[in-house]
Amino acid sequence: MSHHLLLIIHLLSAAIWVGGHLLLVFGFLPQALKEKNQIIILDYERKYEPVGMTALVLLVITGILMAYKYGVSIEYWFQFETPIEKVVSTKLALLLLTVLFALSAQFRVLPKLEKNAEKLPEMTFHILSVTIIGVLMVVFGSFVRYGGL
Ligand code: HEM
Repeated sequence: MSHHLLLIIHLLSAAIWVGGHLLLVFGFLPQALKEKNQIIILDYERKYEPVGMTALVLLVITGILMAYKYGVSIEYWFQFETPIEKVVSTKLALLLLTVLFALSAQFRVLPKLEKNAEKLPEMTFHILSVTIIGVLMVVFGSFVRYGGL
């Protein structure tokens, strides 16, 4: 697959992943916190999850394929030596962090949030963290066209 097509899929997926989280943060989270109503977040999560997870999987696949096209294959990851490899390694580290937050939300926070609103602050922390990480992913990705970090 051409690099250009991979980049287009990567950008569309980034729009869905980051856009979906920004919509949650600015469109739904304030009302949920104001009304102490966790159902608003749970409803959004349920509808967004299949689309969001597909976008994240596509981001990882296209990102890794583009990294390979830049010559950054697995044996160079986390060496932090060349400018493009630094971007790729930073993004992979942020991806790992995203996965840890997602697992923690899925298994620790969400099951309890279903029953009561007490876990709202913890869920808010998870949502804000994943959103900020997503925005950072966009920022780090944009460095590639300027030669890397
Ligand atoms: C939440 C996850 C991610 C988001 C939101 C994201 C977002 C972006 C964005 C917005 C660009 C912009 C490129 C441009 O300036 O046109 C980009 C580029 C790039 N991303 Fe990601 N990315 C994510 C995950 C990944 C992962 C996991 C990798 C693989 C390690 C990766 C590798 C790359 C590469 C190699 C480029 C450069 C493409 C090019 O300009 O040729 N990304 N990313």
